[in-house]
This record gives sequence, C-alpha cells and structure tokens, in this order.
Amino acid sequence: MPATTDARIGILGAGRAGRALAVALRRAGAHIAAVASRTQASAARLAADTDAQVSTSRGLPSLCDVILVAVPDDAIPQADADLAAFGKLEGRIIVHTSGVHDSAVLAGAERAGAMTGSLHPAFAFSDEGYALAHLHEAVFAIESKHAVVRVALDNLVKLLGARAIVLPPGMKAQYHAGLVIASNYLVTLYAAAAHLLRGAGAGEDDIPALLLPLMRATLGNLSAQGPAALTGPISRGDAGTVARHVAALAGQADTIQALYQAMGLATLPLAQLQGLPDAQADAVRRALKG
Ligand SMILES: NC(=O)c1ccc[n+]([C@@H]2O[C@H](COP(=O)([O-])OP(=O)(O)OC[C@H]3O[C@@H](n4cnc5c(N)ncnc54)[C@H](OP(=O)(O)O)[C@@H]3O)[C@@H](O)[C@H]2O)c1
Repeated sequence: MPATTDARIGILGAGRAGRALAVALRRAGAHIAAVASRTQASAARLAADTDAQVSTSRGLPSLCDVILVAVPDDAIPQADADLAAFGKLEGRIIVHTSGVHDSAVLAGAERAGAMTGSLHPAFAFSDEGYALAHLHEAVFAIESKHAVVRVALDNLVKLLGARAIVLPPGMKAQYHAGLVIASNYLVTLYAAAAHLLRGAGAGEDDIPALLLPLMRATLGNLSAQGPAALTGPISRGDAGTVARHVAALAGQADTIQALYQAMGLATLPLAQLQGLPDAQADAVRRALKG
C-alpha cells in the first residue's frame, strides 16, 4: 500500500458524499485515479473536477489501490458484487462510507482478497461549498479488522485536516443511531415544538424567533458544560409544571404526547445526576406518566 498521497484512489458513487470527499482529497494533494458511478454523467463530472479518469465499478480495481464506495446504503451489496467480480483483489483497500453498516457488507470483496473497512464522516453533506469549507472540522469513524486499513484511512483523514476515531466491528448501527438522535431528531424536536407554539397562537414568523435563540443558547451551554447544562422543570423537580404540560398535550397527536413523555423520562436521570432527590424524581415520573 503506497503512502497516502501516492495511493491511487478510486471513487464509486459520485453523489453528495463521494463528490465532496473526492474533491477535498484532490485539493489536499491526493491522487484520485478513477471515478465510477451509476450514470456516466455523474462520473464524468466528478472525474473532470478531480483530474481522474472515468471507469466502471468492475474496472476500478485495475486502476486503484484504495476504493471509496460512496453509494446509497442499500446499493452497497451490489457495489460489493461488482467489485468482487473483478476477481483477484489482493493488495486493494476497499471501504464504504456508510454510517450504519460495518465492513461485513463488503464480504464479497474481502473474499476476493481485498482488505475492507468503513470510513464514516460524521458530517451532513448537502451543500458542496459548505462541505469543502468545513469537512476538516468533522470527525471520521474508522472500522476495519485490518490494522493496515485503519492506518491508511487515518492517514487519509489527516490529509483532509480532520480527526478520526476507531470503532470496533459490530457497533456501527449503535454509533449511527446516536448520530441520528443528535442530528436528525433535533429537526424533529424543532418541528414538534413549532406545532405546539402554532396551536397556542404564535405567528409563523414568531416561531423561529422564539425557538432558534433558545436552541442556540442550549447548544452553547452544552458546549461549555456538557449535560450539566440542563435547565427547566425536570431539573428543578417541578412535578406540578410537568403535570400541567402532560394535561395540555392530552388533545395533541399521540406522537407529540409520547415524545414529551419519552424525552421527559430520558431527562430524569440527568436531573438526578445534578442532585435531584429521589422523592422529587418519583413525583416527576408519576406526572410524566399522567
Ligand atoms: N450525505 C451525507 O450527509 C452522508 C454523510 C456521511 C455518510 N454518507 C454515506 O455516503 C453514502 C452515499 O450517500 P450520499 O448522501 O452521497 O448519496 P447520494 O447523494 O444519493 O449519492 C449516491 C451516488 O451513488 C451512485 N449510485 C447509486 N447506486 C449505485 C450503484 N449501484 N453503483 C454505482 N453508483 C451508484 C449515484 O450515482 P448517479 O449520480 O450516477 O446516479 C449517486 O450519485 C451512503 O452510504 C451514506 O450513508 C452520506
């Protein structure tokens, strides 16, 4: 396996993640040798942006030492089958960028002799310009049973100016569920809160003005203090307030009431860590259960 900047890197899947990673790696001095994708047009555009040649999924192994598979999660088994169809993959490193899967999903390539792994950037690729400006701030999760793959991927991440952690095999789904709670469900929480405010009479323009400064302040406090940043009725042990909330939500959609109750129950241990006495915690728990 050549040193990182000498390795011939192939990209399979010229979508949001594949494009941003390839362009960022190219700008950092890596050698993107070839690009393949479902459509010729996507592959050709990324190849032009990275001085690479256009290939096919079955052709990539003849041109590359390291192949980044950045296709949708459900298309990885097909990509694995295509790459394995090349035949002898000894000396190749093949990794995918999925958050939820580990390298076991590349079993066909591994059987054909490749050393497989996964490299997940904990980053939301949406706007490419934003991604290229901020990718160095992301943490990447590396998983592979091969030490040589873990080292090679760590070098790639360092080339991007970012930092990597190593996860044991078998833990990707749990890891990814944690990221989804923190990232996607923050949007869900905003939408549920907006629904309640709208129903309580707040104007459409007032809703972001009410919620976003509050959410930003909470994120700021969280950055400074960790979970000790918790404020509000549960941290105070204010069971009466919680009971009024639960009663007020009785007429709302089941999901909103269930969300309030589940989040409340998950919040109680944090309040107890801050010193909320057991008796008050029990009163809040009863109030949450209605
Ligand atoms: N987006 C994110 O924020 C993010 C973050 C971290 C990790 N990831 C991971 O990165 C991977 C790709 O996600 P994405 O968001 O970049 O998806 P995406 O924007 O939908 O791009 C996927 C690309 O894969 C190509 N493709 C689809 N099926 C294919 C196949 N069978 N063979 C070859 N190419 C195929 C498509 O090509 P055409 O354009 O040619 O049709 C498409 O451009 C996923 O595993 C995802 O979990 C994504």
